[in-house]
Amino acid sequence: MKSQAGAPVVAAALACATGLPAATLAGDDGATEDAVSSPSRIVIAHRGASGYLPEHTLPAYALAHGMGADYIEPDLVLTRDGHLICLHDIYLQATTNVEQVFPSRAREDGRWYAADFSLAEIRRLEARERLRDRFPRGKSRFAVPSFAEMIELVQGLNERTGRTVGIYPEIKAPAWHRTEGLPMEEALLEVVERYGYRESGAPIFVQSFEEESLRRLRELGSELPQVLLMAEVEQYRQFLSAEGMAGIAAFADGIGPAKTMLERQPELIGWARDAGLTIHPYTFRADQVPDLHGSHEAELERYLFELGVDGVFTDYPDRARAVLDRQ
Ligand code: G3P
Ligand code: CA
Repeated sequence: MKSQAGAPVVAAALACATGLPAATLAGDDGATEDAVSSPSRIVIAHRGASGYLPEHTLPAYALAHGMGADYIEPDLVLTRDGHLICLHDIYLQATTNVEQVFPSRAREDGRWYAADFSLAEIRRLEARERLRDRFPRGKSRFAVPSFAEMIELVQGLNERTGRTVGIYPEIKAPAWHRTEGLPMEEALLEVVERYGYRESGAPIFVQSFEEESLRRLRELGSELPQVLLMAEVEQYRQFLSAEGMAGIAAFADGIGPAKTMLERQPELIGWARDAGLTIHPYTFRADQVPDLHGSHEAELERYLFELGVDGVFTDYPDRARAVLDRQ
């Protein structure tokens, strides 16, 4: 891996310093009115601008908006009292100080589960950086936002900038949540509909690694754009053919494969296109560039312009924005 972090972030830094969004500095080409039919390639801020600020925090989402992201991704889990919060893991210990605040609340496996805590308790936690060599731990102060707070931030920034940045929520481990008595699909639809995401052209993609969950959302009447995430594991092998992709189209509008799946099997792209599916691979990281590509920008260009994907999940939305804006 080559380390290439430290890209230009002037507009975003100004935004942080002034408290104002940097959309006007970053340009306003990112508006996306119709999620599925838009022909332009999109920048999806993965966990916010998580290359620069702790993932799934309101500052990371605000920075992503200022950097020109088209969509901002919250991963979602449920609290004990049924609130969706922005968190990648069903556990709390990797990205919060839960061990210090609630030392006796781990399960027998030694993990602190978000589903064991109320939203009021989650609000007592500090969020912190997950990865080494990113935002310094112990500096500044961050919290775990609710999904509703995340949407209000994005919609507020949209109102102030005149851009339409979308949201790209991933429901995490919905089958597990259901066994805990916490159905996620209903909770998701309640929140997004409350904030106006109701039609098939709304600026939202709902993503999940679990086919059953996407099917459940359709059964509940959702017409929102949906993306099936895929990893390089056995459970997704059934989809890796023309017929398999056609099957996905019965319950989703796109696929979100691990990017290496496309490098290894580029014909997946043609099969997905033939099935009418949009293609958004994950995850592009300027500080984790595969040697194969030589530079972060070369990797982005390979996927966006040679393989021809429709968008990228990236921890560095400014870098992808710049690559697309050069075209
Ligand atoms: O949702 C796309 C990508 O984020 C999937 O992986 O683990 O980062 O949520 P993960
Ligand atoms: Ca995700």
